[in-house]
Amino acid sequence: MLDPFSGSGTTVISAEQEGVQGLGVDVHPFVTRVASAKLNWRADASIMRERAQDVLREVEREREVRLPDSPLIGKCYPDLASLTSLLRIRDAVERLRKGDEYDELLWLVMVSIIRVCSPAGTAQWQYVLPNKTKSRVAEPLGAFEARVELFVDDMLQMQHFADHPRARIIGADARTLDGVDDGWADLILTSPPYANNFDYADATRLEQTFLGEVSGWGDLKPLRKSLMKSATQHMGGWDAAEAFDSPLLIPIRDELIEVYSKLEAIRKTKGGNKAYHLMVAGYFLDSAQIWEALRRVSAPGVKVCYVVGDSAPYGIHVPVERWLGELALSAGFKEWSFEKVRDRNTKWKNRKHTHPLHEGRLWIEG
Ligand SMILES: C[S@@+](CC[C@H](N)C(=O)[O-])C[C@H]1O[C@@H](n2cnc3c(N)ncnc32)[C@H](O)[C@@H]1O
Repeated sequence: MLDPFSGSGTTVISAEQEGVQGLGVDVHPFVTRVASAKLNWRADASIMRERAQDVLREVEREREVRLPDSPLIGKCYPDLASLTSLLRIRDAVERLRKGDEYDELLWLVMVSIIRVCSPAGTAQWQYVLPNKTKSRVAEPLGAFEARVELFVDDMLQMQHFADHPRARIIGADARTLDGVDDGWADLILTSPPYANNFDYADATRLEQTFLGEVSGWGDLKPLRKSLMKSATQHMGGWDAAEAFDSPLLIPIRDELIEVYSKLEAIRKTKGGNKAYHLMVAGYFLDSAQIWEALRRVSAPGVKVCYVVGDSAPYGIHVPVERWLGELALSAGFKEWSFEKVRDRNTKWKNRKHTHPLHEGRLWIEG
């Protein structure tokens, strides 16, 4: 089973439970690190607990911490004592590294409490909303200890599957799938980015800022450039001619140009002035490249389950599953069908359109 957008690794972990050889690919280095850390569930639970206690003892030494010079961190952690405690956990995890799998498990425990210890409005893997507050804020040391126990429980549960094949995660671009062998996959199961303006670079900004990996908005630029184009923030400096000149988009070119032109025109009448026309063109050019790459790594008779949602930026409907299906056939797959799972129209409601949207599974075979 190959997941070309494996994120935090849900599908590859399920593959391990099912006894299926799993391979995950994601281009986002932070997310790839999270997934790879999770794959260390075979580690010894009692050593994990001991190593966590070492971290807490190191925190008690109350070493000096350097406060991050970041307005975002200042806004998200107004309580200095709590922030200091969280930073001490971060530093202790780094200082006590031994070069083994517990390093990464403890890193992930630490990462997993960054949000819950902030009063800022945050959701799991969502943008930070520093101007909103949440009602329950965790205390860092207690949160760390509780998370260790949660990890240990999960590890012990998973260890029933210890003799199943090990999954792997590769940091690579789904548009090329470098590092994945030709004909490798019998099954492709994935939840790709939707064309709905969600920015996966921004999604991890709080964690990456806290860890000192980025210090401001501009530092996310290289990551944004590497992501599949699915948000207007990804489109800076990109020329849509690349899409319209590409032979890969021939099957949908006329319809795409029509949607593109409508979006370009309507944009001028909207306050937000968002470049959805570019986003849509970029999204389908990237998707066409992804189907080519997936064809290369697929065994004959492959089955692909691609979770998709359609979208309607500025109320202009984009028939996502049909266009993706047509591009997949053009890349050499044999047939496509769509199985609706649910209706939705939440994301765009605030943009005052009522176009009914849905979400479901695009099945591709052959
Ligand atoms: C909907 S999420 C996948 C969530 C995943 N199923 C999970 O359990 O966490 C989409 C993922 O696509 C990744 N992504 C975006 N552009 C990519 C690209 N060009 N190549 C590979 N992965 C990419 C993002 O980093 C994000 O993790």
